[in-house]
Amino acid sequence: MQQPKLSLKFPKRFLWGAATAAHQVEGNTHNQWTVWELENAKTKAAQAAYQYGDLENWSQIKAAAKSPDNYVSAKLADHYTRYQEDFDLLQKMHMNAYRFSIEWSRVEPEEGAWNVEAIEHYKAYLRELKRREIEPVVTLFHFTLPVWFAARGGFEKHSNVQYFVRFVEKILEEMGKDFRYVITINEPEVYAFESYYLGDWPPNRRSKVMWWRVINNLASAHRQAAIAIHAHGRNHKVSIAKNTGYFYAGDNAWLTRLSAAVMQYFQDDYVLKKFVRHSDFLGVNYYFSYRVYGYRIHNPDERVSDLGWDLSPENLQYALERLNRKYKLPMMITENGLADERDEQRQWWLTQTLIAMQKAMDEGVRLEGYLHWSLLDNFEWDKGKWPRFGLAAVDYEKGTRTLRPSAQWFGRVLKHIRGL
Ligand code: BGC
Repeated sequence: MQQPKLSLKFPKRFLWGAATAAHQVEGNTHNQWTVWELENAKTKAAQAAYQYGDLENWSQIKAAAKSPDNYVSAKLADHYTRYQEDFDLLQKMHMNAYRFSIEWSRVEPEEGAWNVEAIEHYKAYLRELKRREIEPVVTLFHFTLPVWFAARGGFEKHSNVQYFVRFVEKILEEMGKDFRYVITINEPEVYAFESYYLGDWPPNRRSKVMWWRVINNLASAHRQAAIAIHAHGRNHKVSIAKNTGYFYAGDNAWLTRLSAAVMQYFQDDYVLKKFVRHSDFLGVNYYFSYRVYGYRIHNPDERVSDLGWDLSPENLQYALERLNRKYKLPMMITENGLADERDEQRQWWLTQTLIAMQKAMDEGVRLEGYLHWSLLDNFEWDKGKWPRFGLAAVDYEKGTRTLRPSAQWFGRVLKHIRGL
């Protein structure tokens, strides 16, 4: 076997792992997204050529993207029942951390009615991680809401925040001793933007006022959840997962530089300043960069993912350094990865990412972990099942999972880096 040649130095306690979210892998959930999927699947399939027809890999994805089934999560990888197998995959890759979300709609399917079975499930799930010495990173809201909560107006109403906090308190009371790292809210600005600014995600409302209100209510939800978590006693570490991109000027014109700075501010800082005060670390999701010319984004697109996203893994270094200068918090990469069904670019992406993290740490960034998105192929929200982000490929018919070659390579690298 060829030995990995990278000579990287990461701290012994560094967390190496992968991430998932309940609705994207568990299968058979019932929340505001599943309702929306059933209502919209046919339209989405009919619009596929218009939406994705320009992608280089259109001929490869065409059949899946044109099928309504693609847009309905249904059974997915059935992670809810097959999680042990998936934890085996983490261990095969020599990982010591795992990020997942607890599905609120399972735990509280009706307002105020706790589902004991679901609670027991997540307790067993956490026990299993502990047994395997895998550090859990628990997400409490990753885009999905119980149907009853959405019907009450979800995070549009400040008076609804109390229901989320009650759920958080229930989780703490039941299993708070079994985890340390908590992500209260995944990408609050992405959720608010997609659902209320663009109106592309449920509840498909397009209103700037609502968008602003939801961001502020999520900030309040984070603050109240963080206070509840810290009051719980154990040494919990709390953050949101912030989707960050790196905006950089493509030329030296003043307009370009100004636009890049303004865009960066609105993407990151405007949102972050509402959340950081109640965060012990900063969870960072990094997928792409934006090259700015004048007031426009024009990316190099030398390499793109199956979704057509520009791939600039090396810029993670600058994104981390910038966040470090501004917020001076320890950080954890809570998501990072790409849709690459044929696994042609993932090994390259991972290599560049490892180098970028090392360089950022050499520049003083306090990085505590790296969680790849994703452990498994999963349900990519409004795009459905065809984008393949998994370190493990999932055959949705048979339910089998297979570590892609890049994941096997990554496992060997981790063995080496962790000195195992
Ligand atoms: C989200 C994930 C999503 C990934 C890839 C992140 O914005 O947290 O749920 O699958 O990006 O698009």
